[in-house]
Amino acid sequence: MLAPAVLPTPLQVLADPVAARAGVELRLKRDDLAHPAVPGNKWRKLAPNLDGAVADGHTRLLTFGGAYSTHVRAVAAAAQALGLASTGVIRGDELAMAPRNWSLRAAEAAGMELEFVSRAAYRALATGEHGELLRRWGRCLVLPEGGSNALAVRGAAEIPAEIPGLGERDLLCCPVGTGGTLAGIAAGLPPGARALGVAVLRGEGYLEREVTDLQLAAYGREFDNWRIHHGHHGGGYGRVPAEVQTFAAEFEQRHGVPVERRYVAKTLLAVHDLAAAGELAPGTRVTVVVTGLPDPVAA
Ligand SMILES: Cc1ncc(COP(=O)(O)O)c(C=O)c1O
Repeated sequence: MLAPAVLPTPLQVLADPVAARAGVELRLKRDDLAHPAVPGNKWRKLAPNLDGAVADGHTRLLTFGGAYSTHVRAVAAAAQALGLASTGVIRGDELAMAPRNWSLRAAEAAGMELEFVSRAAYRALATGEHGELLRRWGRCLVLPEGGSNALAVRGAAEIPAEIPGLGERDLLCCPVGTGGTLAGIAAGLPPGARALGVAVLRGEGYLEREVTDLQLAAYGREFDNWRIHHGHHGGGYGRVPAEVQTFAAEFEQRHGVPVERRYVAKTLLAVHDLAAAGELAPGTRVTVVVTGLPDPVAA
């Protein structure tokens, strides 16, 4: 059985001098504490899909990801806990013969079968029809890369629903990778409150379309209460510049909160810089959703 998440996740008020000077209140929504094996937005996005998989009698989950994908590890752990088989289609056929990194080792240790495919084949499989995969692996629930689908968006919409008293002065912030988390947060906000996504990859235009498409898939309509900030991707997906590392280390020291580097640190730095630049109106209450845990130190 998969242990339930600890919900609602805590809301933590931060004493932050830069935010205070800008007249901005800063809080964290500690989704990183939701679940030990399926933390942060992984729980929000996977839980509704897992319920659906069990209800539909699926015996295998199949998903996609890169060599260090948190989503792949979370699917492996969830499948194991639920007594389901799992398959991870991994980008990079050169990895097949290489020693497993800590992330892939963890997925395999949870019973996931890994299939390594070339980058071209990966693109085709992850974005195209799944007929070939189903023929190869049998009937299974196929979860998209990053886990973002209509059910995942509805799961992420639970985040603002857990925060009492949201209104006109509230801005909820989260990282944007595939867009499912932002799509759901925005959809779940009450009137007047707004969402700001921080892109962690170069994706201006593309990411906005992804978020809109996910909202259409989940709710049959778009929402106009969100935007994406593109100034803090740090050079691209997975890139963590020294400035982001330094900021994250200082943040951890000051507030005692572990900061995941590829998503959460970029989001916190973006909020910090926007506040310092006076781009957040005084009186704004910013709640940053801590969407994940730092990677375990590579063994
Ligand atoms: C810690 C963390 N935060 C944020 C994201 C991005 O979320 P989304 O893909 O829903 O935009 C991810 C990846 O899914 C993640 O691992």
